[in-house]
Amino acid sequence: MKTEFLQADDANIEKCAEYLRRGDIVAFPTETVYGLGASALDPKAAEKIFRAKGRPATNPLIIHVADKAQIETVAVVDDRSRKLIDALMPGPLTLVMPKKEVVPSIVTAGFDTVAVRMPDHPVALALISAAGVPVCAPSANTSSRPSPTMAQHVYDDLCGKIPVILDGGRCPLGLESTIISMTENPPRVMRAGSVDVSAIEAVIGPVNKESVMIDSLSSLKKPTHFVPKADLVFSAYYDGMFDEIADYCDRMARSHGRRPVIFCTDGNAGRYGDRPVMKMGATVSEYAQSLFEKIREAEKENYDLIIAEGVPLGGLGMTLMSRLMKLSNGNVI
Ligand code: TXA
Ligand code: MG
Repeated sequence: MKTEFLQADDANIEKCAEYLRRGDIVAFPTETVYGLGASALDPKAAEKIFRAKGRPATNPLIIHVADKAQIETVAVVDDRSRKLIDALMPGPLTLVMPKKEVVPSIVTAGFDTVAVRMPDHPVALALISAAGVPVCAPSANTSSRPSPTMAQHVYDDLCGKIPVILDGGRCPLGLESTIISMTENPPRVMRAGSVDVSAIEAVIGPVNKESVMIDSLSSLKKPTHFVPKADLVFSAYYDGMFDEIADYCDRMARSHGRRPVIFCTDGNAGRYGDRPVMKMGATVSEYAQSLFEKIREAEKENYDLIIAEGVPLGGLGMTLMSRLMKLSNGNVI
């Protein structure tokens, strides 16, 4: 299959909406990462997503909607969920709610719940709106690869396996949405993500955050999730780790023949002497935005070991650390 690469202008958005309407799949940008979309009401179309990604049929998809009213067509929305929808959507928040009959079971992997979000990205919203159906979409990477934050990443993973990529530039957030289960009491954070949990708690009160890091660990049992070609280790602390990181880097290079690179914030780049570094930006949100991109860059430059600085756990720091935990298979220095 030839993979078309289309700039996200009005004509091409309409062309991709037509692909979706006729049961084909389309890679498209969102504010978090690129998604690989299909009509959420068409089981044959959804099946194509699983095949292209090599995604296990046990892993359900998120349904993306173009407006808030569309959420009620696929999910049963209670008062608490409605408050979150009013306050935080569109945005990088995914709610897991009881599903409606109309959603085929392949989309929810047989669960009686459905994950729904309204992306805060003009191209995603225009595409879903033009398609006229809700769009189920996982991240547009091959299963076990980091999520794509640029159209080129999608191309690198899925060229020849999907008909079209809608290029809307770099995803502004770079990390996936926060997922929260609304069918439990209190609601439970299932995946730390780009919405800070404190913003959720400000709307509906305390939520269960206990499983955020444990979930990261339990992902170790799913060997297919998040395996970069380069190994990744990270420091659990952000302060005073420079010597440990530098020593570890030297040891891996000299005694183990590795090609390590250090992921560090801009301000720390000078602390590692002439060891190879990749600058991740000045702030935690810049670090988060560039993480997946820099991993792919490091692999292209044939580094085989990424040593990532940790960050403080507050806010987005928690999300970033949970991703580092997954990417590293729990390898902390
Ligand atoms: O930011 C994002 O969420 C991106 C963009 C494309 O929207 N999507 C994304 O999708 O990260 P994916 O498939 O890579 O991750 C979705 C996660 C999976 O871990 C899946 O298990 C979970 O959502 N999920 C989906 N439906 C669920 C359900 N009914 N119950 C529990 N978890 C669910
Ligand atoms: Mg994914």
